[in-house]
Amino acid sequence: MKIRKACSSDKGNIWKLHVASIRKLCVNHYTPEQLNAWTSVLTPSVYDQALKEKVFLVAHDSQQDLIGIGIFDVGCAEVSAIYIHPDATGKGVGSQLLNELETIARKSNIFKITVYSTLNAKGFYMVHGYLEQELTFHDLSNGSKLECIRMFKNLLNDAEQRH
Ligand SMILES: CC(C)(COP(=O)(O)OP(=O)(O)OC[C@H]1O[C@@H](n2cnc3c(N)ncnc32)[C@H](O)[C@@H]1OP(=O)(O)O)[C@@H](O)C(=O)NCCC(=O)NCCS
Repeated sequence: MKIRKACSSDKGNIWKLHVASIRKLCVNHYTPEQLNAWTSVLTPSVYDQALKEKVFLVAHDSQQDLIGIGIFDVGCAEVSAIYIHPDATGKGVGSQLLNELETIARKSNIFKITVYSTLNAKGFYMVHGYLEQELTFHDLSNGSKLECIRMFKNLLNDAEQRH
């Protein structure tokens, strides 16, 4: 598994992975109506802005097939997304993407980061030291709302990490 920066030609595969991840991995925490509303606002061009303005990483396997995406918004000090392909979960891909995003945050002198976690991913972020702040909502462009959990983590700086 390798991680690299995403590029515009990845958009179609990012979209397929994102939709597959939501449909399979979020199914126990959101209604079918919510899942439909969520995936219906996604298209390959939805990622244009994040590709331009955010740190956008992809993880791929030895066949170059995408197995995960990770997005960090430096301006908002926020992990915007981590989505793993349903066939690639439980192998540390999400952890490696998150570690990479946290490293980029530290290099940008950001030591407190936020994530609006899906209900299903709360345990994943807790394993990585994120603390729950409040239950909130993500507004979709079609007017639907998705419950999510605002979480934060205080990152150690390099000197603190060495101790
Ligand atoms: C949540 C997600 C990113 C985890 O990715 P992953 O590659 O499967 O996670 P990892 O293999 O790196 O797991 C790391 C640790 O987190 C734990 N973990 C992973 N997913 C978990 C979950 N949903 N609930 C509780 N713990 C979880 C693992 O057990 C593992 O713990 P360990 O190190 O003690 O064994 C992935 O399941 C996913 O893409 N989910 C759907 C999309 C989503 O909701 N993303 C979050 C958007 S904010």
